[in-house]
Amino acid sequence: MSTAGKLFDTVFENAYKATEVNLRLQQELLLGWTRFLPGFTGRKVGSVGELPDFRQQFSHGIMSAARAQRELFDQQFDAAITAFDEALGVGKKRSTTPVVAELPPRVVVKDEPTPEAAIALAEVPRIVARTANNIFQKVAVVTGAASGIGEAVARELAHRGAKAVMLVDRHEGVKDLAAAINKESGRDVAVAAIGDTTDEGFRKRVFNEAMESYGMVTICVPAAGITRDGLAVRINKESGRAEIYPIESFRQVTEVNLLAPIYWGIEMVARIAEQRLEKGLKRWEPEETIQGVVVFLGSVSSQGNKGQISYAVAKAGLEGATATLTKEAIFHGVRCGIIHPGFTDTPMARALGEDFLKKNVLPYTQLRRLIRPDEIADAICFMISNSAVSGELWADAGWHPPA
Ligand SMILES: NC(=O)c1ccc[n+]([C@@H]2O[C@H](COP(=O)([O-])OP(=O)(O)OC[C@H]3O[C@@H](n4cnc5c(N)ncnc54)[C@H](O)[C@@H]3O)[C@@H](O)[C@H]2O)c1
Repeated sequence: MSTAGKLFDTVFENAYKATEVNLRLQQELLLGWTRFLPGFTGRKVGSVGELPDFRQQFSHGIMSAARAQRELFDQQFDAAITAFDEALGVGKKRSTTPVVAELPPRVVVKDEPTPEAAIALAEVPRIVARTANNIFQKVAVVTGAASGIGEAVARELAHRGAKAVMLVDRHEGVKDLAAAINKESGRDVAVAAIGDTTDEGFRKRVFNEAMESYGMVTICVPAAGITRDGLAVRINKESGRAEIYPIESFRQVTEVNLLAPIYWGIEMVARIAEQRLEKGLKRWEPEETIQGVVVFLGSVSSQGNKGQISYAVAKAGLEGATATLTKEAIFHGVRCGIIHPGFTDTPMARALGEDFLKKNVLPYTQLRRLIRPDEIADAICFMISNSAVSGELWADAGWHPPA
């Protein structure tokens, strides 16, 4: 290949590389918007609050990305001119006549945004505050994060600007999920923690790790759950005997769905209480603003559901835990709530089988479809971000089962 040919190659290679970097910068900008403005990705807006430093941070981010793009254009243009000069045999001496007829327009970066951009930017803190109050820059623990609702909650918290989200699950898949969330968010926000939520030592290790690396945990969503469905009394047609629901299954379900979530919730309350004690603080005062939030995962089954004696008992038990903790934990500034999702499109609901869902679920659901996990995550974030919300929230898609 001739020298000129090689130089043309280099020019195009450089242009290609510059385009790649440009695209990456634009992607980062978009990620910035989607992270801070959940409305852009079709998510609903939750509650009201304040986030005064956001506008500055965000407009600073846009300006630096635009500046970096301008520098790239300049470098690309200079490299092209030099290469063309050299190819045409004018050596290092710059030709006064541009060889490239049509130059890319220079990116003009003003220090102040245009009036339209200023209006749009002024909206940002309001929208962000409505969705990210009590979430932005906070540390969260989400159990059952490898799948379904827990996964959706972890993603949503990261999108809304949480500082760190501990993704707790006994399933290894939580590692890939953490990597995916970090890539999407463009920052290291998700941390995988693999273990069994019923293991007290594991629970304490997760809280220790979160606090040592990121600071006090102030959001806890213990979503890990299982089902072991079966009628309380079932007639075995072959033996002609009545079979009783196995007590071992009952113990297992209440261990995972009732005791474990309560203990993950009160672990956070205890850590906050200790920290306040060290600071010499006593009863929480409203001026301190909210110190933490626990949201338990109840279910429409807490009101009773055929074939779910153990699950229904565990979920109804969480209502009692919420009511008690709501009264106790506010002493330390921690709010507590429980959400009761209807049938949500996760592996847990899908395990019921397509036929069962068609016959026994969809006809009694006003939406006539399964709820999406991100809809439940949005409702949970609403409970976290809106400090006026306490107690129970039913997100059941109009579930009205027959007797
Ligand atoms: N899907 C629904 O229709 C529905 C409705 C109402 C309430 N819920 C509740 O929402 C929560 C999440 O349910 P989902 O539908 O997303 O379920 P899912 O099966 O998709 O996910 C549950 C996750 O919890 C994890 N898990 C279970 N036991 C664990 C343990 N001991 N230690 C660590 N991890 C454990 C599993 O590995 C899994 O990743 C559960 O508490 C469930 O009872 C679900």
